[in-house]
Amino acid sequence: MERKLIAAGNWKMNTDYNEGRELAKAVVSGLQSSDALVVLGTPYTHLKNISVIIKDISTIKLAAQNCHQEESGAYTGEISAAMLQSCGVDFVILGHSERREYFGEADELIAKKIDIVLKYGMQPIYCCGEKLEVREAGKHEELVGEQVKTALFHLTKEQMGQVVIAYEPVWAIGTGKTASPAQAQDMHHYIRSLIQEKFGSEVADATSILYGGSVKPDNAKEIFAQPDVDGGLVGGAALKAKDFLAIAGSF
Ligand code: 13P
Repeated sequence: MERKLIAAGNWKMNTDYNEGRELAKAVVSGLQSSDALVVLGTPYTHLKNISVIIKDISTIKLAAQNCHQEESGAYTGEISAAMLQSCGVDFVILGHSERREYFGEADELIAKKIDIVLKYGMQPIYCCGEKLEVREAGKHEELVGEQVKTALFHLTKEQMGQVVIAYEPVWAIGTGKTASPAQAQDMHHYIRSLIQEKFGSEVADATSILYGGSVKPDNAKEIFAQPDVDGGLVGGAALKAKDFLAIAGSF
């Protein structure tokens, strides 16, 4: 097992089909031979098409932004792991703070989503992070620790080896306010220490822990230089190929 450096874009609910296609093509054509693995987290409707656009490039992978926890059935409007897998999806972003906030997702549910994504051979990108009031109360490690334990500690070592973690402090998402490199490093180090206690050093050392929250071309290098920061989960800046490519080249 080896820790990977990853620049992942979370497009959220942005781009129509054609815009998404153009954005993916622009990323493909601008990519340099960088060490980072690039992941495009596109809307569901774009997945199959973009999987074809990126299919010959081993350093670009495809992510969905959510997945239902059940195998199949009467869940109108939902998308299953089998559907994603059959569209060429490699990663699934789970537990994003926007899903927690607007769709009431909690870690017990996210744990089930992680299980089904792993069952279908895809890799979860598990998001955790505290709100501003929690940080101001000095309880951020306690809260993120609880999130990580509830969502991930039921896994086997082999399963945990497939999980990517994204630390995204809620107060830094879409606000232009990033965590300082030291704040990111402290939390990433803490998360890795939890993984090490539960799953051992080999798994902990191989786990990629990404930082998310207002990552931009002008701050990426400094954040990614931290020893426990293995890349970024990028929202707004992933919608401009030039900015996203600059971030992917910041390792
Ligand atoms: P921004 O980069 O727009 O702050 O979004 C971060 C994020 O939520 C990525 O999942």
